Amino acid sequence: MEKDILKILISEEEIRQRVKELGTEITEDYKNRDLMIIGVLKGCMVFLSDLVREIKLPLIMDFMVVSSYGSSTKSSGVVRIIKDLEQDIMDKDVLIIEDIVDSGLTLSYLIEILKSRNPRSVKVCSLLDKPERRKSSVSIDYTGYRIPNEFVVGYGLDFDEVYRNLPYVCVLKPEIYEK
Ligand code: IMP
Ligand code: MG
Repeated sequence: MEKDILKILISEEEIRQRVKELGTEITEDYKNRDLMIIGVLKGCMVFLSDLVREIKLPLIMDFMVVSSYGSSTKSSGVVRIIKDLEQDIMDKDVLIIEDIVDSGLTLSYLIEILKSRNPRSVKVCSLLDKPERRKSSVSIDYTGYRIPNEFVVGYGLDFDEVYRNLPYVCVLKPEIYEK
């Protein structure tokens, strides 16, 4: 896998530090609230598992699977729920955990669906933000890193389902994306 990497954008150590900071911030903000962490699979899984261990509060976790991309690197604009939540979110303080907000289409659709179920609040925490590519205006309450308009993998993010287990965020060599 390492031979496919062009450059590392965010190192393991930088991620560890930032995740700790986000966890501390969320812990402060959600004291005495009814925190429900909602992970958007599969991209969130590595980030989420590190982040929840930095949140020093009781919380519930649930997961959704939505499709927005297929296997290409461009958004289709079509979002579909493949797996819905198992828990009721009524009166809960929902915090959606995302790997990356790119066009924002996936997220704005998700927020709309979740709000219709009457939670007490809905906020968003995303490891990465690619603001240049935004098509739908969504506000991210907790952002790990803003990155330029480049397709990245690692720390949960994939290209064609591969590279999710790389411990850092990186850009692949152009010939890999062209395959
Ligand atoms: P959006 O709907 O365009 O915001 O895209 C959301 C989803 O697209 C993310 O949750 C990722 O799964 C995927 N995605 C967007 N940009 C990247 C990237 O640079 N690398 C890997 N996946 C990406
Ligand atoms: Mg995703």
